[in-house]
Parts: sequence; structure tokens; C-alpha cells
Amino acid sequence: MSTVDVRAAVFTGPNQPLEIQDLSISAEPGANEVLVKLAASGVCHSDLHALDGEWETPAPMVLGHEGAGVVVAVGSEVRDLDIDDHVILSWTPSCQKCEFCVSGRPVLCQLANETAYRHVFFDGKTRLSAGSQEVKSFLAVGSFGDHAMVPASAAIKIRKDAPLAQAALVGCAVTTGIGAVVNTAEMEPGSTVLVVGCGGVGLNVVQGARLAGARQIIVADISKDKLELGRTFGATHAINSKENDLVEAVLELTGGRGVDYAFEAIGLPFTIEACYEAVRRGGTAVVVGQVADGVKISIDPFVMSDQEKRLIGSNYGSSRQSIDFPKIIDLYMEGLVDLDSMITDRIALDDVNEAFDEMRQGRGIRSVIEY
Ligand SMILES: NC(=O)c1ccc[n+]([C@@H]2O[C@H](COP(=O)([O-])OP(=O)(O)OC[C@H]3O[C@@H](n4cnc5c(N)ncnc54)[C@H](O)[C@@H]3O)[C@@H](O)[C@H]2O)c1
Ligand SMILES: [Zn+2]
Ligand SMILES: [Zn+2]
Repeated sequence: MSTVDVRAAVFTGPNQPLEIQDLSISAEPGANEVLVKLAASGVCHSDLHALDGEWETPAPMVLGHEGAGVVVAVGSEVRDLDIDDHVILSWTPSCQKCEFCVSGRPVLCQLANETAYRHVFFDGKTRLSAGSQEVKSFLAVGSFGDHAMVPASAAIKIRKDAPLAQAALVGCAVTTGIGAVVNTAEMEPGSTVLVVGCGGVGLNVVQGARLAGARQIIVADISKDKLELGRTFGATHAINSKENDLVEAVLELTGGRGVDYAFEAIGLPFTIEACYEAVRRGGTAVVVGQVADGVKISIDPFVMSDQEKRLIGSNYGSSRQSIDFPKIIDLYMEGLVDLDSMITDRIALDDVNEAFDEMRQGRGIRSVIEY
């Protein structure tokens, strides 16, 4: 069997730096798979949750799930992709047969939950190896490698004139953020919005709210730089939540009423609780940030019934990737979505550990690895 060499950043255990290793992968994709030569991969906080041991994560594994590249080999049963197609990788492959896929909710795919979310392919196996050792791919993507085998449903074709570094970000942060507003919350134009956390995901909630016609967009963060960036992406008001009580500040900015929608984009229990408190009667708080394993929140269920407040979750922006990825790329190419300002560092694969240090310190929006 012929193989392709893959240079990749490998997770070897929690709180250890990723190791750059030479791995191999079959050159022949399975019948419903494609081999992608990565052009770029963003570094997302979900990779950091895994790296820092906040999520139970098997090793060895190639991390990274926010990638874009070019198809270099196509399985025998793949009909809608060809060699040289430009694709954005999706970290939720869809079986296209289960009740969730058929009802238009591929991010909840039954088979993906049983396989990709455990970092294996639909057949329960891995595709990468280091000598005789099997190596997993994060979410069946593993975009911290210069090649990735993925299920065909996880490679979404996009137009060829879009730059692939920017396109990579659509594979997680951008779709997650914009989708949380447009698909999950189905926010009405003229709404008032709070976004807590101005990282890669939160800033895209801000641009989603702007796109969907929000009247007031309040951002909160503990970093002054991030609050400035929030304004660049469309926020009308900013709260430094290190220096101010978040809920009080939101009530003040909304005449005591609270916001129509609040989005938590960090993954901390007290900011999720604050989002719930900051929404008006009948308003909606959306949990986008992901917490460490085992974290619980405390919500007053009397308020929930009495005030008809909703607390909902959003996975991958409730996206239908084959519709949403190309649409967001079109919006970018037409100047309606900003992807350029999101790339604050372009790095080589070897510098991936430094990118995580930057993220731990809350600096920059996205580091993008270019292969
Ligand atoms: N739901 C989904 O499908 C989905 C998809 C991708 C990422 N995520 C999650 O979204 C979260 C954000 O990811 P990201 O890549 O944008 O992270 P990031 O590190 O880029 O941004 C986090 C932001 O939160 C701010 N922050 C940290 N502590 C804070 C506090 N106490 N109060 C206010 N602000 C604070 C930081 O300054 C930073 O700006 C992560 O938990 C990630 O796992 C969820
Ligand atoms: Zn992500
Ligand atoms: Zn499915």
C-alpha cells in the first residue's frame, strides 16, 4: 500500500507541548473519503482545552480542526469532489442518513457523535500512523498536519478565488459565531445583544449580530485590546468585566431591561450565569463557549418559568456546513464579513506551541498555520 508522509503536531498527553512528528497516511482514500493537502489551519481554543487537559483527550493524536486545503485524492464512491477542488474541513462529518442529518441538523449527526467526536472515522478506526502505532485525528480532522484524510462529507467545496488562510477560519470560529446568531438564536433584526468573550468565536458572534441587523451590540471581555477589536467588528458598547460588574453594566446600558440575546463565548460557569441574568424577560441566553469536563452552572428555575427566559446551546453554529461555508465565503468576498482582521499571526507548524501561549494570555485573535 502506498503512503503519503504527513508532518504534524502531535498531542502526546495533557500539559505537554505538541511534538512535531513525521507520520504516514494511506495514499488511497477509502471509498467515501478524500485526501486533503492542507494549506492552512487556525488555532482554536477547543484545541487548547484538549492540550491543557480540560477535556479527556486520547493520545497520540494530531490536534487542529479549523482547516482548509486542496483535494489531492478522491475515494471511488465520492461524486461531488474532484482532485484540485478547494475545500474547508468540517469537524462534524455527517452520515447523511440518521434522523438528525435527514432533518437538516448535521451537527447533531448520530454517527459523528459515536465516531468523530471520539476522534475516529466512521468505521471506528484511525487513518494516521507513526511506524506501527496508530495516531488519532482530532474530531476526524487533525488539521495540524500538512495532509488529512477526511470523510467526504467533511470536505466542503468552496470557490477557488478565496484565500485559503481566511477560508480555514470558516471551518470553526466564523461559522460557530455567525451561526449561533443566525441559525441557533434566529435573532430578529433590531435586537439588543450581549457577547461575552471577544476571541475568535465571540468576534464572529459580533459580526453575525451586525449582519443580522442588531440595534445594540454590547461586548464584554477582561482585555482592553479585545474590547477594541469588538468595536472594530461592530460592537456599539464595551464592558471591561474585570473592572465592572457585568450584569449591572448591561442593565445600565439597556435602561434596566436587559438584552434580548446574550451569547457566552468563553466557556466559564460564572459568565454563562451572568449571560442568563443579563437577558430581559422572555429573552434568550446562548451557550457557545465550552466548559472544562465536569463544570456545572447554577440557574434559578423559578426565574426560568416566571420570566420565560430561555437558555439554549449552540454547536458549530447549528450550521449546515455545505450551505453555510460557501455562503460565508461569498459574504467575505463581497466585503460583508471580515476574515482578514481575524488573522493576527501567520505561523509555521513548528511554532504552534507559541500560538497556544499567546492564546493562554488572551493575545491576538487567530494564529493561522500556513503549510
Ligand atoms: N459551541 C461550539 O461549537 C464551539 C466551537 C468552537 C469553539 N468553542 C468554544 O468557544 C470558546 C471560545 O473560543 P475562542 O477560540 O474564541 O477562544 P479565545 O481564547 O480566542 O477567546 C476567549 C476570550 O475570552 C476572554 N476571557 C477569558 N476569560 C474571561 C473572563 N473571565 N471574562 C471575560 N472575558 C474573558 C479572553 O480575553 C478572550 O478574548 C472556547 O470555550 C471554545 O472551546 C465552541
Ligand atoms: Zn474550534
Ligand atoms: Zn447523521
